[in-house]
Amino acid sequence: MHRAEIAAFLNQKGGVGKTTSVVNIGAGLTILGKKVLIVDLDAQGHLTTFLGIEADEYTNTVYDVLRGRVEPQDAFVKKPLGARFTINGEESQLSMTVMPSNLDLAGADMTLANGPERESLLKKAMNKIRGDFDYILIDCPPSLSLLSTNALVASKKVYIPVQTEYLALESVENLMKTIEVIMDRLNPSLQIGGLIATRFDGRKIINRHVVESMKERFGSLLLNTMIRENIVLAESPSHGQDIFTYRPRSNGTEDYMSLCLEIMGAGSSGERPITVERGGIINRRSTDSASPMLETTMS
Ligand SMILES: Nc1ncnc2c1ncn2[C@@H]1O[C@H](COP(=O)(O)OP(=O)(O)OP(=O)(O)O)[C@@H](O)[C@H]1O
Ligand SMILES: [Mg+2]
Repeated sequence: MHRAEIAAFLNQKGGVGKTTSVVNIGAGLTILGKKVLIVDLDAQGHLTTFLGIEADEYTNTVYDVLRGRVEPQDAFVKKPLGARFTINGEESQLSMTVMPSNLDLAGADMTLANGPERESLLKKAMNKIRGDFDYILIDCPPSLSLLSTNALVASKKVYIPVQTEYLALESVENLMKTIEVIMDRLNPSLQIGGLIATRFDGRKIINRHVVESMKERFGSLLLNTMIRENIVLAESPSHGQDIFTYRPRSNGTEDYMSLCLEIMGAGSSGERPITVERGGIINRRSTDSASPMLETTMS
């Protein structure tokens, strides 16, 4: 029986790598044998279009779910990953599940604002399907709105992508305060999963400086894996693909796989029955009889 760990990816600052992280962590965890749902909670619908999904007027979206118009599972879209996978000797295609969004969601802050339990609409919906997944990852809008509050109330963990640029930490300080308020008032079991340094370029003094400041200010909350600036990560959405499908041999693949392992390892015994070889070969020797031995060759 699965019982998904629900995680929100939030930073009210725009363009820091929230959507890129949700898509690619979702894909990475799927490759590592996990059942994953990614939820587009942004009216910009970037996650949805990133994966080449068209959410037109006939598509059930997260907004329909929040309004109670459809059941959560009726707003699922399957997104196959393109790489070749061999599970127990049989070739198969993995897929992750997406709950899409479109501009309709822009009205949510107003239309849902006066309803009962307005902060826990997403939590209620996710509770119905939690048993079907190992991870549910929520891509938040770049604002501290009712939607972001819903994400924090539904989640066990919040991850904060931070672009290693000038003024990056100012927004994180504000965000931390908001998270504390939510912890106090609405979700005492919420934890900070960690800060994710994104778009890091070790040649840039400002990038190195911001990472140093993050370490000083936030200590072990800063995850070890840093996501490097990698043009391939910016290209993959125009092909409707995650990075593992689009360019298995890239810095982006390496970084997001390393991040997935860190996310999976957190809170566990630290044992990692997974090896990642350079060049995109992932070997997972599962000691867990419930999940198949997965040997992944991405080509
Ligand atoms: N590591 C990276 N290297 C290069 N480009 C990146 C990287 N991460 C993200 N990008 C690019 O930066 C831009 C912003 O990324 P993304 O959309 O993931 O941020 P976001 O925080 O979700 O933005 P928003 O706040 O608008 O939702 C995109 O064009 C994306 O392709
Ligand atoms: Mg986004």
